[in-house]
Amino acid sequence: MTAIVVHGGAGLVAAERHARLRDGVRAAAAAGDAILSRGGSSLDAVVAAVRVLEDDPEFNAGCGSALTRDGTVETDASVMDGATQRVGAVGAVPDLGCAIALARAVLDRGEHVLLAGSSAWDFAREVGIAPAPAGALITERARMRLADVQKGTVGAVARDRDGRFAAATSTGGIAGKRRGRVGDSPIPGAGTWADAHCAISATGDGEAILRVALAHSIAMRIASGTPIDRAVRESLSELQRVTNGSAGVIAVDRSAFSALQLSSTMPVAAISDGVHADSMGTQI
Ligand code: GLY
Repeated sequence: MTAIVVHGGAGLVAAERHARLRDGVRAAAAAGDAILSRGGSSLDAVVAAVRVLEDDPEFNAGCGSALTRDGTVETDASVMDGATQRVGAVGAVPDLGCAIALARAVLDRGEHVLLAGSSAWDFAREVGIAPAPAGALITERARMRLADVQKGTVGAVARDRDGRFAAATSTGGIAGKRRGRVGDSPIPGAGTWADAHCAISATGDGEAILRVALAHSIAMRIASGTPIDRAVRESLSELQRVTNGSAGVIAVDRSAFSALQLSSTMPVAAISDGVHADSMGTQI
């Protein structure tokens, strides 16, 4: 029984963008499902799904990333393999359009978990990843710093035929951030988590998500037998109570998946054993 769930970021999105966002997450889910349905791994599926969204300028990741207060792009991403609990992550890397590919290379190399800042380019060049041309990741929408790109992020979670879980998350972070700021997305247990029981990708206020280790708190609830929807709901409520922040989550376990958010919208697409679903998110 395979499943892939994709999100395009929690936040407030103008209604005229809804169709484009839904198309984007559907295309990303289809890319992941194509891998799962031919027996591929959940790890490959989540990376393929997130790569689609990084190249789509509608989303706050890769091309279309939110800008720092200096008008530059610095991206964060991570990918986690639930079967081994191995992680690869990158944080605050300037002009990196395919952050999830570099995170996957970090995981595959296995030497470190997280590479940050411009020095990550030394490793990127070793694995054949080149910087985007100057300004190529900056879209007009990001330049205008509209509210709807302030909280978005993209992510995917999957379960493959062998019952293995994986999660991947990629983002430009929050608009107007300081250069060097690293959010929740590349931090295992905060914005991304996968283990033998579930996979989770979060979006929203990075600082709030970090303060409550949101993804890990959901995983612990699932491990102790809480149904997945309730686990996500309880952890999001805790985040709201402790930080007054906002977030959204996609999660998958052995029998179900969940997509819930505190904000007004979160584009989501899922394909589970060939059954497609999509929405602008379920608010709690
Ligand atoms: N959740 C994305 C960020 O705060 O960077």
